[in-house]
Amino acid sequence: MIQKADDKETPAEHVRAVGLMSGTSCDGIDAALVDVTSNGIKLLAFECCPYTNDIREALLALSSPETCRIDDLCHLNFVLGELLADAVVRVARRAKVELASIDLVGSHGHTVWHIPQGRRFGRRKLRSTLQIGEPCIIAERTGIMTVADFRPRDIAAGGQGAPLAGYVDYRLFSDAKLARAMLNIGGIANVTYIPAASAPEQIVAFDTGPGNMVIDRLAEIVSDGQLSCDLDGALAAEGAVDRELLAQYMKHDYFALKPPKSTGREACGRDYADRFHHACQARKLGDADILATATALTAGSIADAFQRLLGGPVDEVLVSGGGAMNSALMAMLAEHLAPAKVLSTAEVGLDPEAKEALAMAILAVEAAYGRPNNSPAATGARRAAVLGKIVPGSRALELPEQ
Ligand SMILES: Nc1ncnc2c1ncn2[C@@H]1O[C@H](COP(=O)(O)OP(=O)(O)O)[C@@H](O)[C@H]1O
Ligand SMILES: [Mg+2]
Repeated sequence: MIQKADDKETPAEHVRAVGLMSGTSCDGIDAALVDVTSNGIKLLAFECCPYTNDIREALLALSSPETCRIDDLCHLNFVLGELLADAVVRVARRAKVELASIDLVGSHGHTVWHIPQGRRFGRRKLRSTLQIGEPCIIAERTGIMTVADFRPRDIAAGGQGAPLAGYVDYRLFSDAKLARAMLNIGGIANVTYIPAASAPEQIVAFDTGPGNMVIDRLAEIVSDGQLSCDLDGALAAEGAVDRELLAQYMKHDYFALKPPKSTGREACGRDYADRFHHACQARKLGDADILATATALTAGSIADAFQRLLGGPVDEVLVSGGGAMNSALMAMLAEHLAPAKVLSTAEVGLDPEAKEALAMAILAVEAAYGRPNNSPAATGARRAAVLGKIVPGSRALELPEQ
């Protein structure tokens, strides 16, 4: 149970929701079943439903203008809808609860493309983003009201549509005494900086750059497809960092941008990792050195963002996402970010792998009650807006009285 004693604004309520997340790593669907009550948030069960290789490859192909086909995009939207619905059923089964006891599903979907910098449309510049995983399929298969597609409304309100975590991070982890940085290391890494005793407007949140994305791709290349990640950072731990190559890659244009900023496969996807690999080969690096240097790029870009862009001191860094499982990466971060303490969210009672899915459940509950659930300080939106598109379930939603 994550409890916020000072959360006086939460009305008396008890909503059971499933949050669904498919991140840029394309590793699978995370499903978190949570009870959101006036006393706090309780994670009842968490299930990670891995993608088959076919689905993973199909999603990766969609995430590149060179390989995306419009008929595949149409098809995969519905395929993912079915897989997301399956994930709801699986997490309910794991918790041994009936689907009928679940009030809401909050589904992020899978981002296939994101244009936060905007594109010209006549005299205007329009931002856009596209997440797939048809919510009508989820609602139809499960019978549960589904809230999906949180990002577009934030963009409509003038924001970048990302990162979404700012709202939930502040609500769950703001602290009267500690300045906290909530660091989620998925395919992309993002941070929410919450100064001690701060107001919601004071947080700073943005994507720092690569999380596991480059590491995963290099692990795949050096193992001839046997590895999908550097398990526990074992290879990186044995290698030496090529400082010269690292310095070269630290000059990425994205790292220099000021927040609000967000990114995805556009900035450090396969092509980028493949170029990095070629550069490593040209310098005759061994496999372990390649992984150590890629891991140092993730750690270095995070540390650089902390120093230049947070705008204040950090007492505690709470790490979530699959990257929290990479010991080599965690050790590099601890070294860079000292004297701040670098901990997994497990140390404050939250499974690091469940955090993003849990956040989607909370966003859905807020949307269902019509309460704003974005963080304008994080996304740059002009106002606090209610994010999410609501698809009715097969039974009328009976939310407890506010
Ligand atoms: N034991 C582990 N050792 C190293 N890396 C891990 C481990 N477990 C998970 N990961 C990394 O975490 C990634 C998944 O993290 P996740 O938070 O789901 O990212 P995303 O939100 O982008 O899908 C995997 O692709 C892998 O790189
Ligand atoms: Mg994932």
